[in-house]
Amino acid sequence: MFDTRPIIALDFPDFDSVKAFLEKFPEGESLYVKIGMELYYACGAEIVSFLKSMGHSIFLDLKLHDIPNTVESAMRVLAKLGVDMTNVHAAGGVEMMAAAKRGFGQQGILIAVTQLTSTSQEQMQDNQNIQTSLADSVKHYAQKTAEAGLDGVVCSAHEVALIKESTMADFVCLTPGIRPNGSNKGDQKRVMTPSQARAAGSNFIVVGRPITQAPDPYQVYQAIKTDWNASI
Ligand code: C5P
Repeated sequence: MFDTRPIIALDFPDFDSVKAFLEKFPEGESLYVKIGMELYYACGAEIVSFLKSMGHSIFLDLKLHDIPNTVESAMRVLAKLGVDMTNVHAAGGVEMMAAAKRGFGQQGILIAVTQLTSTSQEQMQDNQNIQTSLADSVKHYAQKTAEAGLDGVVCSAHEVALIKESTMADFVCLTPGIRPNGSNKGDQKRVMTPSQARAAGSNFIVVGRPITQAPDPYQVYQAIKTDWNASI
């Protein structure tokens, strides 16, 4: 399973910035967009219905992490919004993830965050007192995510092979940290180009600033989309 459209991270503070950004795309172009905490907390569910009414697919990136009962009820609400994909933290445990799945139902893709890509091995060992390698922790969380019946994980494109090997080939890997050739890495450290991510086995790529901050976002989007689909 994969989508030919790179997912655009709409990391904007308000409705007007989203509208102004989307005006740079041709009318009727169906996009796959990611709504993160900033935009969702600023605009609420209205931003979801607005983007859906424009025909866009939606990944709601809220990374839920709470007691199973609370996560299940919250997921039931998110399912009603009609989002195509959403996520939780694998650190919430198998019981919490299974509850999330019950709440979200079958309507879309449910994935989990393993270790955030901003966490170094040193920080993980010190802050979380997990005394293994970062790769082992990512693998462990991916296996627990599969055990809970979720569809896949958010991960670095560098981790896709390890994750699929230790779960199953059709386990969804959604990968941020994607940069077109020659672009600014921003604060992302270990990046891959769209075609490298595809070759590594990514099912979905998420791209933010290279598109949102480009003078001509549609042109950059098309170039990224072409590269992402180059081998198919
Ligand atoms: O601008 P950039 O392409 O770096 O944006 C990547 C998006 O993916 C951001 O919204 C960021 O929060 C998100 N993300 C990430 N790494 C993760 C999970 C999410 O960069 N592990």
